[in-house]
Amino acid sequence: MIFIILILIFCFSFVLLFGPPYLPTMRKQIDSAFDILELKKGDTLLELGSGDGKILISAARKGYKAIGYELNPILFVVSIIRTLPYRKNIKIYCRNFWNIELPQADAIYTFLLKRQMERLDSKLEKYSFRPVKLVSFAFKIPNKKISKQKNGVFLYDYSK
Ligand SMILES: C[S@@+](CC[C@H](N)C(=O)[O-])C[C@H]1O[C@@H](n2cnc3c(N)ncnc32)[C@H](O)[C@@H]1O
Repeated sequence: MIFIILILIFCFSFVLLFGPPYLPTMRKQIDSAFDILELKKGDTLLELGSGDGKILISAARKGYKAIGYELNPILFVVSIIRTLPYRKNIKIYCRNFWNIELPQADAIYTFLLKRQMERLDSKLEKYSFRPVKLVSFAFKIPNKKISKQKNGVFLYDYSK
């Protein structure tokens, strides 16, 4: 029992070295994100830090493809199980999204911490598949123009 608790503590805490801890976006903000993104059926949403897979499932239910990156192995397994019925449209990888070349997507969803927003902006400035839209829940990118916002969700456009 102690061993299981130690594994749980380890999985949820080592992630803090690379990004925010697990805290899910609320339903109202998920809906707001999709409202301001205005995606078309068949578009791809990339989620950086995809947690329990809830947002990926919402995307698949709307007819979008979804790709998630989640570093916490427990959340990765939970999200793989939760998204099984949508396997055709959802892919999830247990990877640190800072260390990879981000795949092609029409939009990106994140719920990071304030101190990671500038680093994310630099990464997206170099993103190979622009134009792309970014929605960030809770935190803004310093000195970057917000294209739209709703209920604490901010939309940014990275043009070609
Ligand atoms: C604040 S939670 C948001 C979860 C989900 N996106 C949501 O909004 O409901 C941040 C998630 O990102 C994951 N995470 C943090 N840093 C990461 C990294 N560098 N690579 C992949 N996942 C990361 C955490 O484990 C956590 O599940």
